[in-house]
Amino acid sequence: LQRLEYRGYDSAVAPPSTRAAKNMCGIVAYCGNAQAADILVAGLQRLEYRGYDSAGVAIIQKSEDSGGKQESKRQKSAAPKADGAEAKIKICKQAGKVANLAKACENSDVKGTLGIAHTRWATHGPPTDRNSHPHVSCDGKIAVVHNGIVENFAALKTKLEGLGYKMASDTDTELIAHLIYDVRKKKAMPLEEAVRQALTQVHGAFGLGVVCADEPDILIGARRGSPLILGIGDDEYVLASDASAVIERTRRVTYLNDGDMVVITRGAGYQIKSLDGVKLIREVQELEMSLQEIQKGEFKHFMLKEICEQPEVLENCMRGRLNHDTGDINLGGLTPYLQRIIAAPRIIICACGTSWHAALTGEYMIENLAKIPVEVEYASEFRYRNPVLYKSDVVVAVSQSGETADTLAAISLAKKHGCLTVGICNTVGSTIARETDCGVYLHAGPEIGVASTKAFTAQICVMCMIALKLLKEKGDDSTADFKKKLKALAALPDKVRKVLEEKEKVLNMSRVFRYASNFLYLGRGFNFPVALEGALKLKEISYIHAEGYPAAEMKHGPIALIDQFMPVVVIAPCNDPNAEKLQSNIEEVLARGGSVIAISDETKNEDLERKCEYVVHVPNTEEFLMPLLTVIPLQLMSYYIADMRQCNVDQPRNLAKSVTVE
Ligand code: AGP
Repeated sequence: LQRLEYRGYDSAVAPPSTRAAKNMCGIVAYCGNAQAADILVAGLQRLEYRGYDSAGVAIIQKSEDSGGKQESKRQKSAAPKADGAEAKIKICKQAGKVANLAKACENSDVKGTLGIAHTRWATHGPPTDRNSHPHVSCDGKIAVVHNGIVENFAALKTKLEGLGYKMASDTDTELIAHLIYDVRKKKAMPLEEAVRQALTQVHGAFGLGVVCADEPDILIGARRGSPLILGIGDDEYVLASDASAVIERTRRVTYLNDGDMVVITRGAGYQIKSLDGVKLIREVQELEMSLQEIQKGEFKHFMLKEICEQPEVLENCMRGRLNHDTGDINLGGLTPYLQRIIAAPRIIICACGTSWHAALTGEYMIENLAKIPVEVEYASEFRYRNPVLYKSDVVVAVSQSGETADTLAAISLAKKHGCLTVGICNTVGSTIARETDCGVYLHAGPEIGVASTKAFTAQICVMCMIALKLLKEKGDDSTADFKKKLKALAALPDKVRKVLEEKEKVLNMSRVFRYASNFLYLGRGFNFPVALEGALKLKEISYIHAEGYPAAEMKHGPIALIDQFMPVVVIAPCNDPNAEKLQSNIEEVLARGGSVIAISDETKNEDLERKCEYVVHVPNTEEFLMPLLTVIPLQLMSYYIADMRQCNVDQPRNLAKSVTVE
C-alpha cells in the first residue's frame, strides 16, 4: 500500500469522518407569507454556481401548514417524536444538482413559510444525501445550513461524542447543530442566545442559517468570514450568500458584516446584533442588479452570454470615468489616495486564479506607463510567507467575487502592517470591497459562469485606467500620446465586437482541436498573462491539460512536449515589438511537428498564414491594450471545445465560483 499510495491516499491518511468538510456553498433562507420551498429552491438555482454537489431545504411546518400527503422516501420529518409539538422541521435533501432537489420537493409536502436551504461544494466528505445540508440536532428540532469551515472540528467532535452525541454525517456543520442543542438544553435558553453561545466554541469561518421547531417564527443568520446578505421585502425576508438569490423578491438589502448576527422574527421585523449581543444598525441599500443580468436569455450557457457581453461590460466599466477629449480619468474611490499611491515605493497586487492573471497584466501596465514598481503575489502564498511589508506600501486586491478567502486574508495582513489597501472587485458590497480603504468596482454585472471571462476583461480595463490615472497624477499627461492612449482605450468596445464576429472561425477551429489532450499557450510581454489565462480557461471547463508559458521559456523545457499531437496557441500580433521573436518561436514549434494556432492582429503577414494551421485576427490597437482583444478568441475556443466535449460549461466539475475557504 505504501508503494501504491501515490494512486490514492484519502482513506489511508485519515478516514473522512476525522477531517473537517470544507464548503464554499450557497445559503438561502426565507421568512414570510409565501411557500418557502418554492422560494428557497429558486434561490438555490441562482446560487448553484457557488456549489453543485448536493442541495437541501429545511422548512418549519406548523400543523396548519401540513397537507395530507404521505412522506416520500427522500423527505423525512426531522422531529418525529415531537409529541404535541406545534411545529416540526421537514427536510428534503438530495445529492446532485438543485434540479434533483426541485423534483424531490415537488413530490413531497414540504409546506411552510419559513425555512433554510443550501447548495453544497465539498472538497471532503462525499456529496451524498447524508452529507447534504441542512443538518439537524439529535432531536431533529434544530436545523442548520453552513458555508465555511469549522477549524476545530476534531476537538469539537471528540467533545460532543464524549457527551453522547451520535454523528449522522461526515460534515463539520452537523457539529454546530449539536452544539446549539447542547447549549440550549443545558441552560434552557432561547434559540438566539443558544446560537450565540454555541458559536463562541466554533473556530473558523461560517455563514449560517438556523431554524428551530420550538421557535417556529424565528430565523437566525450569522457570519464570520463567509458572506450573507439580508433582503428586506414587504413582510418577508430573504437571507442569502449573494444578491442573485434575493433579487426576485426584493431590491432592498443590507449586507451583514463579519461578526454580525441577524434575528428575523415573523411579524416583528429583524434585528442585527454582534455575536456578543450588541445591537447594531446597518445601512439598507438598493440593489443595482437586474433580473435579466442573472438569466441566460437566448444563450445556451452563461459563459457564452458573458463572453458576448464584453463590449457592453467595457463600456459600463469606463462610463463616467474616461473622457478622452479632455484627457480626464475619474476614479472617484481612489481620488483621495492618489498622492499616497504615486509616492509609494511599490504596489503589491494580490489575487488568485484568473484575477491573478489580470493582476499580472496590471503589473505590466503600471510599470510601463506610470513607472511605479509593482509586485504580483498569489494571495495564498503572500498571506503565509511572512512578506516584508512597509507602511508606505500599497496593497491591491483583485477579486471578481470580493469574497476569496486568501485574497481577503492578504488584505488583512496588509492592514496589520499599516499599508494602504485598494480593492478591485466586481461584486458590490462584497467583503473585500468593504474591508479595503478604497477601490474601483468593475461594473461588469453578475458573472454566473464559474469560468471568469467578462470580469477578467473588466479587471484589465480597470488596471489600464489606474495605470493611466497614475501617469496623469505624476504630471506626465501633457503629451499627445496620453490622449491617444485614452482614445484607444475608449475605442476598445467596438474592437471587441469585431473580434466576436470571428466566432464562426473559432468554432470551426475548435472542432478540429477538440480531441487534443494537451495544449501549450505562448505569449510575450503584455500577452504573456493572456497565454496563462487561455490555458486556465481550457483546463477549467474542458478538462484538457494546458500550460501557459512566456514564449521564450518554451526552449527551457516545454519544447520537449511538442509533437504532431500538440496544438500550440501563440499570441503573436505582427505589430508587437517582439513580433520577430514570436515568429521564431512559431518556427521552433513547426520544426518539431506541432500545429500552431496564431492569434494575431490585422497586419498582413502571408508567411504566418501559410505556416499556421489557423490564424485568428483581432483589430490593431496600442500594445498595452492588446490583452483585451487577444483573450477573446481564447475564451471562445475554450467554450466551444468544452461544449463539444459535452462538459458542463457553466458548472465545471470540482470548481466553485467563489472560493470562500482557503
Ligand atoms: C476563474 O475562471 C476561476 N474560476 C478562478 O480562478 C477565479 O478567478 C479565482 O478563484 C479567483 O476568484 P475571485 O476573482 O472571485 O477572487
